[in-house]
Amino acid sequence: MERELITLGIETSCDETAVALLRGRAEILASVVASQTDLHEKYGGVVPELACRRHVETLPLLVREAFARAGIGKEQVGLVAVTQGPGLVGALLVGLSYAKAFAWARRLPLVPVNHIEGHLAAGFVARPDTPLPAVALIVSGGHSELFHMERPGALVKLGSTRDDAAGEAYDKVARLLGLGYPGGPVMDRLAREGRAVYPLPVALHGADTLDFSFSGLKTAVKNLVRALEKEGAPLPVADIASSFQRAVVEALIRKTRLALERVRPASLIVGGGVASNSALRAAVETLGKERGVVVTVPPLELCADNAVMIAASGAMRYLADPANPAWRDFLALDALPSWPVGE
Ligand code: KG4
Ligand code: ZN
Repeated sequence: MERELITLGIETSCDETAVALLRGRAEILASVVASQTDLHEKYGGVVPELACRRHVETLPLLVREAFARAGIGKEQVGLVAVTQGPGLVGALLVGLSYAKAFAWARRLPLVPVNHIEGHLAAGFVARPDTPLPAVALIVSGGHSELFHMERPGALVKLGSTRDDAAGEAYDKVARLLGLGYPGGPVMDRLAREGRAVYPLPVALHGADTLDFSFSGLKTAVKNLVRALEKEGAPLPVADIASSFQRAVVEALIRKTRLALERVRPASLIVGGGVASNSALRAAVETLGKERGVVVTVPPLELCADNAVMIAASGAMRYLADPANPAWRDFLALDALPSWPVGE
């Protein structure tokens, strides 16, 4: 039954509407993602009200598309998994309401999923045999966190950002450089073209903490841009991007190395939108070799927000405890905009 279970996954926590159909724990039957970048880019960030309305319009269309791509009927679904938080409250409610209606109408169980645990679950879709215990580095637009995962569902937070998330820092610096939103992908491309000639600070690097901090780096870039603008020459955008990227990756790697030294896990799992970053992907592979741990980094389409990871996280929790009455008693579930993990 376990390998045949088909899970419908729904993700609407921020500015991506996503639907997936997953068989078992890791067989992707369909994954569709509709990005709202076009809607938000002129504001330089996500506008919550606009995001909610777009989710309402897009979600039913994506569900239809997912079933068409998978070539299966709705009656074949055995489980519904949906992001309950963290995220934008109105956006979460769109997905949650849809999922409740879908499950209730068909008498199906529903598992509410934490978005951050979803990013972690993407690692197990990419490599189902990832050995435990693991250290997980989750880096996205809203989160930069290190966890110790002893077994599925047992997470302990080791550190997190004290101010901006890594992706948020990318987005803010990109905006400063006039590169648009979201900033990560374009900064990553420019960084590869430039040279990291400007020394920028790596916050908390000597400290004995597993926390991150990126706001000082952002301010340092702002000051650098101001100083270079005074010189009057065109801004060396690629060199700035390259210097910034080196500092971000250095900060992430130092704390991840410290976590690996403390926990001595069997593997390192990396996830979240910033895990798409070329320099970070290369650096974690090197770190894994240095520390002798298995490194699991999902393919790009599973790093950015998607619903495969939500379906996978839901299926993992359900299959570990299928008789739990909570999966049948879901109508009163509310969105959890700031749902902490592993604390
Ligand atoms: O996980 P995600 O899709 O959404 C959140 O849950 O936040 O992450 C989006 C973030 C954005 O801040 C984006 O700029 C960043 O991931 N990002 C990147 C790259 N691709 C996306 N940051 C650095 N390098 C990239 N290649
Ligand atoms: Zn995310």
